[in-house]
Amino acid sequence: MKIRTSLLTAVVLVNAVLAASSTDEDYGYSLPVYPSPMGGRISGDWSDAYTKARAFVSQLTLLEKVNLTTGTGWEMGRCVGNTGEIPRIGFPSLCLQDSPLGIRFTDLNSVFPAGLATAATFNKNLMYLRGKAMGMEFKGKGINAILGPCMGPIGRAPEGGRNWEAFGADPYLQGVASYESVLGIQEEGVIATAKHYLLNEQEHFRQYAEWVGLYTNLSAPYSANVDERALREIYAWPFADAIRAGAASIMCSYNQANNSQACQNSYLLNGILKDELGFQGFVMSDWLGQRSGVASVLAGLDMTMPGDGLVWSDGVSLLGSNLTTAVLNGSVPLWRLDDMATRIMAAYYKVGQNPLTYPEPNFSSWTLSDYGLEIAGSLEGPTGLVNKHVDVRTALSRQVTRQIAQESMVLVKNTNNALPLNNVRRLGLFGSAAGPPPLGPNGCSDRGCDNGTLGIGWGSGTANYPYLLTPLEVINAMAIVQGTSVQYNLDDYDLDNVATLAGVVDTAIVFITADSGEGYLDVEGNIGDRNNLSAWHGGDNLVTAVASENSNTIVVVESVGGIDLEAWIEHVNVTAVLFSLVPGQDVGVGIADILYGTVSPSGKLPFTIAKKTSDYPATVIYDVIEPVPQINFSESIFVDYRHFDKYDIEPRYEFGFGLSYTTFQISGLSVTRLNGVVDSEVPPEPPSYSSPLYLNGSVPSPSSAIYPGDIPRYSHYIYPYIEKDIAESITYNPDDYPYPEGYSDIQPSKPSPAGGASGGNPALWDVLVQVKASITNNGTTGGSEVLQLYVSYPAVDGVDFPVRALRGFEKLSASPGETSTANFDLLRRDLSYYDVASRNWLLPRGTYTVSIGTSSRNLVEAGTFSF
Ligand SMILES: *[C@@H]1O[C@H](CO)[C@@H](O)[C@H](O)[C@H]1NC(C)=O
Ligand SMILES: *[C@@H]1O[C@H](CO)[C@@H](O)[C@H](O)[C@H]1NC(C)=O
Ligand SMILES: *[C@@H]1O[C@H](CO)[C@@H](O)[C@H](O)[C@H]1NC(C)=O
Ligand SMILES: *[C@@H]1O[C@H](CO)[C@@H](O)[C@H](O)[C@H]1NC(C)=O
Ligand SMILES: *[C@@H]1O[C@H](CO)[C@@H](O)[C@H](O)[C@H]1NC(C)=O
Ligand SMILES: *[C@@H]1O[C@H](CO)[C@@H](O)[C@H](O)[C@H]1NC(C)=O
Ligand SMILES: *[C@@H]1O[C@H](CO)[C@@H](O)[C@H](O)[C@H]1NC(C)=O
Ligand SMILES: *[C@@H]1O[C@H](CO)[C@@H](O)[C@H](O)[C@H]1NC(C)=O
Ligand SMILES: *[C@@H]1O[C@H](CO)[C@@H](O)[C@H](O)[C@H]1NC(C)=O
Ligand SMILES: *[C@@H]1O[C@H](CO)[C@@H](O)[C@H](O)[C@H]1NC(C)=O
Ligand SMILES: *[C@@H]1O[C@H](CO)[C@@H](O)[C@H](O)[C@H]1NC(C)=O
Repeated sequence: MKIRTSLLTAVVLVNAVLAASSTDEDYGYSLPVYPSPMGGRISGDWSDAYTKARAFVSQLTLLEKVNLTTGTGWEMGRCVGNTGEIPRIGFPSLCLQDSPLGIRFTDLNSVFPAGLATAATFNKNLMYLRGKAMGMEFKGKGINAILGPCMGPIGRAPEGGRNWEAFGADPYLQGVASYESVLGIQEEGVIATAKHYLLNEQEHFRQYAEWVGLYTNLSAPYSANVDERALREIYAWPFADAIRAGAASIMCSYNQANNSQACQNSYLLNGILKDELGFQGFVMSDWLGQRSGVASVLAGLDMTMPGDGLVWSDGVSLLGSNLTTAVLNGSVPLWRLDDMATRIMAAYYKVGQNPLTYPEPNFSSWTLSDYGLEIAGSLEGPTGLVNKHVDVRTALSRQVTRQIAQESMVLVKNTNNALPLNNVRRLGLFGSAAGPPPLGPNGCSDRGCDNGTLGIGWGSGTANYPYLLTPLEVINAMAIVQGTSVQYNLDDYDLDNVATLAGVVDTAIVFITADSGEGYLDVEGNIGDRNNLSAWHGGDNLVTAVASENSNTIVVVESVGGIDLEAWIEHVNVTAVLFSLVPGQDVGVGIADILYGTVSPSGKLPFTIAKKTSDYPATVIYDVIEPVPQINFSESIFVDYRHFDKYDIEPRYEFGFGLSYTTFQISGLSVTRLNGVVDSEVPPEPPSYSSPLYLNGSVPSPSSAIYPGDIPRYSHYIYPYIEKDIAESITYNPDDYPYPEGYSDIQPSKPSPAGGASGGNPALWDVLVQVKASITNNGTTGGSEVLQLYVSYPAVDGVDFPVRALRGFEKLSASPGETSTANFDLLRRDLSYYDVASRNWLLPRGTYTVSIGTSSRNLVEAGTFSF
């Protein structure tokens, strides 16, 4: 028998597993966890969905179940991902569509603020409303699942190309934003996809095929090697919140973790996700992130996307016909296929979808023309009306994009009340980022260029702009009202003329950028990840040229993250610095509203800005010689501010920092340990699983799976059927498969100690302590402040805690003289650490400190409590 790649990969996995059993102490080996936990065995809000899903899947044939699990191939349907249909019962193809900030590849949709901008608002209600507004738009175009929200990367390396798609460099902030996003999206009836699971922290070497051209030694994507605590306390943490909110799907990532692909890593998928975090929905692969067949399925993968397996658009799937064969030959047990299909349908019912009422896609990702091929990727088949150009934008979309654009602006410097601008007579604007992109807002494919004002980064996490408001436009409009003369020079390199003009205006505003995106696009030599943390297009020189001639130089940094500000931040003429963190289509209005004081700034940095690049705990690995790049996350839990605090490094601007036009006084801190709740060191045991419910059914004969004679077989289209000669060669023999070490078919009766419900052991979500604090606006103008709560832990032998960890935030608004109060609930989870030995979350004994303030370093009041 010819050895298939899937089998080869499986053997590699077995080797890794064998090695693991002898060298548990080593980094870089992934422990086996089998079997894949069957869905529907925890009580609670998924029961109804599972009842419906089991009834649905019970009536399906083998081929129909396989169709649910497998994409039809790249561009083989309207959406970026399309599952096979079930025509016999009128069940449609499911439409899965990018992106976390808006509908990709279409028109008359919104470009919402990116995750990073959303995080910078620190406003939970806006996070929720953004999810809701996106849910409405996605449903309006007939999309079943949005490929978002994005809660990884966390941003361990500040240069990481996709950091801006997610919610900042702190797991708690990411977790809250993910929770609110999932609620909002799914309340509108759309499946939310929490991604990228897990450890996809850089673009370089994330995929083999993308990088082997440049690095010929490469044989596999990088392996992220991370310890147990960081895995749970940092990287998986926000996924727990998403699952707690009911996230119905999870996307596994391209990279390897401990030398096993994230999409076939049984420790990550069966172990942490489906057991410890009690995930009840389905796991889909990132596009071509699946690298093996049977091994991935046994490890917990439920759906392959876009259907093509090892190679784009070749029409060959690792599931599809191969999954049919694998069930027929007994390598994949029937119950596992049933579980895959049931999980997919449970997700569908969980959000309330129904084939009779849910709209079908009325757009095509592959053309903006009205008519086109229905199955674009096959270059054949029927043509039809593929774009109805439905305008799915709502009043809520407009409100949310504008408000997040305003509330995400982070003012980090403001001397002599340079801002807000007040009836400036002669204003000068400098830098290409003040104006429009020369090729139009959508001139570069997937926003793959840094031209003009920066609304979002580049890659698949983007959408087409309906419009892109530039700062120049909005400032010009204000100039008419205020009688200002506006002059500008938008050439980043025309320094002599820039300096001359800067010398003859009263106030100068310089716009500079830093961009990044996904690794399949190279923008000015940056292959996804940023090559450096400096401003692009000579931004430092531009600022210096202006500031040397103008004593009121205001800098607007339009960027995907922190940048190195040191060349000019202390320049006496640089009076104000404002960060715009990719807030989407309304970038210009967001910036101008802050510059003019239409609203007081209230954004906070969702990451730390260092004085030196070497001060950060980690960096992107750009160059490798070995076949499988090993990236040790040796900073462990000490990412971002946790690192600066631990080593007492003074940052330029700390996590959580941001100025306002008014001032606030913090008072009235009270800390109350609740009575009558279990606050033992070890949490109560989670509830047992209900017994597994196996669907009736048996493996059919291979002949029942042969291609029917009467279907059109479109070129490169992926079907569930098998060829006649293959059918004749299949024998059912489960014992023939080289199952990985530790493989078992028997479902455990109880979860691991950390598991038991959506998001983990339900006791982890118990409120143990309540904290209250107030702000009083003692300034002269209205504004909002983000009260931040950080916890410091009691000492435990052998456990390294962060100096402090964000464990609560509330955005409060107040007019002058007014007081607003925030209430914080501290959960058992917030106060615990993951103990590797007992595989459980422990609540340390001793005294905790709660600090309240307006940034991670401006902590004004503190209180304590003990267990
Ligand atoms: C990676 O290996 C380390 C060290 O053995 C282990 O603590 C960790 O759980 C492993 N992570 C994964 C994802 O397998
Ligand atoms: C599987 O889906 C394809 C369309 O994607 C459809 O043509 C085919 O009939 C489906 N097969 C079964 C058995 O439902
Ligand atoms: C099964 O997967 C392997 C690996 O991609 C591929 O070579 C083979 O053609 C697939 N078989 C079918 C029937 O699609
Ligand atoms: C069963 O079929 C699958 C899919 O083609 C294949 O990967 C697996 O190796 C087969 N099992 C055996 C024992 O040959
Ligand atoms: C989009 O088109 C589908 C199918 O034609 C239709 O069911 C749905 O109502 C349309 N959506 C809107 C908002 O018109
Ligand atoms: C526009 O983008 C191109 C390609 O990324 C780049 O080379 C060029 O410098 C950019 N131009 C401006 C004015 O930003
Ligand atoms: C940093 O990268 C940007 C984008 O490629 C480039 O414009 C800039 O010159 C680089 N800066 C330094 C100091 O290398
Ligand atoms: C600040 O601006 C003034 C012009 O207003 C200029 O004379 C002075 O040299 C500038 N300072 C520096 C340090 O460049
Ligand atoms: C490939 O690996 C060899 C041996 O480790 C090394 O000498 C060589 O520099 C590597 N080549 C590249 C392009 O990284
Ligand atoms: C990663 O950690 C392992 C185990 O500690 C070590 O052997 C290896 O050299 C490290 N790799 C790198 C690239 O630092
Ligand atoms: C407002 O309160 C802050 C914090 O206590 C204080 O620093 C500031 O002086 C107060 N401002 C006024 C105008 O009282």
